[in-house]
Amino acid sequence: MSSTTKHLTKSKDMRQPLIVGNWKMNGSLAANQDLLLAIKAGMDKATCGVAVCVPGPYLQQVQQLCEGKALLLGAQDVSAHEQGAFTGEVSAAMLRDFGVRFAIVGHSERRQYHAETDAVVATKAQRALSAGITPIVCVGETLAEREAGQTHAVVKRQLAAVIHTNGHCISEIVVAYEPVWAIGTGQTASPEQAQEVHALLRAQLSAATAQPERIALLYGGSMNPSNAASLLAQPDIDGGLIGGAALKAADFLTIVAAASH
Ligand code: PGA
Repeated sequence: MSSTTKHLTKSKDMRQPLIVGNWKMNGSLAANQDLLLAIKAGMDKATCGVAVCVPGPYLQQVQQLCEGKALLLGAQDVSAHEQGAFTGEVSAAMLRDFGVRFAIVGHSERRQYHAETDAVVATKAQRALSAGITPIVCVGETLAEREAGQTHAVVKRQLAAVIHTNGHCISEIVVAYEPVWAIGTGQTASPEQAQEVHALLRAQLSAATAQPERIALLYGGSMNPSNAASLLAQPDIDGGLIGGAALKAADFLTIVAAASH
């Protein structure tokens, strides 16, 4: 093992792996109950952190179902505003009322379909942090950007905005690298492709905080039971943000088991 690998492995050991389900706009009272009961029943050997980011109307239901289990609650978005006349928005403080521990911010579907800019995403991360919620900041390039050789520039720009707005609090965030071309497509980044970007993000975070080892870097984009172990074995991949496979208890649990070492 080279000294560099040794160093990376050591710092990876300091971070608890984290597997987060992103249910997106899926679920119902009945389906959520079945899914969560099955997940809870299979979680006994999990040593990694496990969270589910659920649609807003189900926060209370899922909060109750998760009680007493090491299954943490997350939201899929948070308002960039604190409170007031913002029809349809949900504030960080409201999420906190329901025991929310994580909020995804800047998911590519929000950037793409809701025109969220880097600055808005950075403010959302700030709102979450000030309510004691860990933002899971998503970054990732489109296929066109990758093909144009812009992957590094895009993810660095997206993360730089969050670092700029959040200063020393940056050690409290989670980052998810989600190449847009891999989300929901079945086309996963190879472990080497993902590791390359994760190493870049880790270096960027190291330059911004004295405690980069606290920050979990998740990979997202068609992570599934067959590819999870090889992705999670990479030195700078600390966990996963799981979409489709988080809706099937058996698949989600296999990924949780792969992260529990
Ligand atoms: P996927 O979604 O696992 O279905 O690709 C991941 C995500 O969008 O967070």
